[in-house]
Amino acid sequence: MKRVEVAASGRYEVLIGSGLLSRAGVLVREALPKAEKIAVISESTVFPLYGAALCETLERAGFEVCEYVLPAGEASKNGENLLKILNFLAENRLTRSDAAAALGGGMVGDITGFAAACYLRGIACVQIPTTLLAAVDSSVGGKTAIDLTCGKNLAGAFCQPARVICDPDALGTLPESVFTDGCAEVIKYGVLRDPVLFSHLEERGRSFELEYVLERCVSIKRDYVCADEFDNGARRQLNLGHTLGHAVEANSNFELSHGSCVAIGLAVVARAAAARGICTHECAGRIVSLLEKFGLPVKTDAPMDALYGHMLSDKKRLGGTVNIIVPEEIGRCRVLPLAVEAAREFMEAGL
Ligand code: GLY
Repeated sequence: MKRVEVAASGRYEVLIGSGLLSRAGVLVREALPKAEKIAVISESTVFPLYGAALCETLERAGFEVCEYVLPAGEASKNGENLLKILNFLAENRLTRSDAAAALGGGMVGDITGFAAACYLRGIACVQIPTTLLAAVDSSVGGKTAIDLTCGKNLAGAFCQPARVICDPDALGTLPESVFTDGCAEVIKYGVLRDPVLFSHLEERGRSFELEYVLERCVSIKRDYVCADEFDNGARRQLNLGHTLGHAVEANSNFELSHGSCVAIGLAVVARAAAARGICTHECAGRIVSLLEKFGLPVKTDAPMDALYGHMLSDKKRLGGTVNIIVPEEIGRCRVLPLAVEAAREFMEAGL
């Protein structure tokens, strides 16, 4: 088992290892010695696979367990379901020393984390990610959220989990397209900070060594979170590929998957950086080729006018400036602050 320690406002460990799900009870008990009740929040495709085993191991560790299952899909990450979860916690009389456990992908992790942050002004939350995307990104770092009618993740709170338990075996049962989606974020970490990880992905393609890759991605994310927990500076680098990616995603009415859009965003920004001499054409070529090797898209047909409109409503925009994260070489990136019109021209150079 690999352990990654996160020393943010709450200190916690991310545990990564095959078979951890079946002994999650003991691992949750270690982190929450005083909790009596735990509410397992999950969704309709994941709970039938792992719910019974999780509830059983939690009960063996002495927890009184109740479970709430949301319909699968991003559409469930809304205010109505947040209230339903809060009422469920209240009906089951969870107290300040009790906890919630999120079993699922990013949707479940985000809404459960937000419910835990709100209920009684904050109870503990354990994250048990079952998608690659959640394992390498959303389960770590304490960003919780729901979507509003005007956009994704527009309401939320920073609230670090009490522990993250990641069992790579659970990721093995993912549909191919869901796994591929997570690979875009994995490639992002290589471009951001880790040439060795990037080369490993180039050599091994989709048969990369899962535990090693999970540990590297989580460690890189941990470093950004510890440097800038509340996302005012360094953590924004995690947004590599996301400025244009979010615009492509919104422009497709969220029909295109997040990972596909991040891949397009990464490819565009890499080509644009090469066109401006920020990185070499060889570096941009390696990024685009690796995305293609994983079956991810690297181009969009969406018109720049439409993408520009969505870029302007990006919640990370600061006044008249868009901070674009650009690669300088594999493993090193920097922030390029551009006025919005200049950001449009920059992106156009990479389309
Ligand atoms: N997903 C980006 C972050 O956690 O900051």
